[in-house]
Amino acid sequence: MNVIERIMQSDYNTTKPMHTVGELTLLQTLGRDSIGPVINLGCYRGASAAALASACIHPAYSVDKYYDFGPRPDGGHNLVRWLHRKSFMQSEEAARELWVRIGVNITQCVGTTDEWAVKLKDVRFGVVFIDADHQYESCKADYENWRPLVMPGGVIAFHDNNQTLVKDVLRDCVKLEKLYEVERTTVYRA
Ligand SMILES: C[S@@+](CC[C@H](N)C(=O)[O-])C[C@H]1O[C@@H](n2cnc3c(N)ncnc32)[C@H](O)[C@@H]1O
Repeated sequence: MNVIERIMQSDYNTTKPMHTVGELTLLQTLGRDSIGPVINLGCYRGASAAALASACIHPAYSVDKYYDFGPRPDGGHNLVRWLHRKSFMQSEEAARELWVRIGVNITQCVGTTDEWAVKLKDVRFGVVFIDADHQYESCKADYENWRPLVMPGGVIAFHDNNQTLVKDVLRDCVKLEKLYEVERTTVYRA
């Protein structure tokens, strides 16, 4: 079984698959061809970060605030997340377990993507993969905060390009050369 199949087969998805085999293979290829460190924004149970790091010779990072659910649901668009709160509550540990199991070395950055853009401001990345909060303002902020941290010739990829608000950000804010799309992932040259 190759590493992508092992990631897919792992128990990381107790909700539904967040990425297809095609998308994880794309991330593996982006990591393999990266000209510098790689970073995954929105870790959940570690699958996309694992794929990105699996063939990468540079340092790999993955950022997530790992939801604290407290005593009651936060309602609205997070209802689904609340219903699956167990899998989200265990995601920080699940990510680490997956990475050990498949043998990838990833720096787990616990906190918001905004905070980590400041903490890692002196690092320059070959790949930034954006898959954290999919609200318009958050996705736009991720693009604006992380775009300056990409090396010339590096790439920025967005997941869930089929979601309306992500689509709006790509249309309104991302003025980069579009390289290609693989299913719900769009890749740009920085
Ligand atoms: C769609 S999931 C990511 C799926 C992941 N790429 C995978 O491979 O399964 C989105 C994740 O982003 C995280 N997140 C949402 N907003 C965030 C923020 N502002 N900062 C850091 N993480 C955030 C959530 O905790 C959640 O785990």
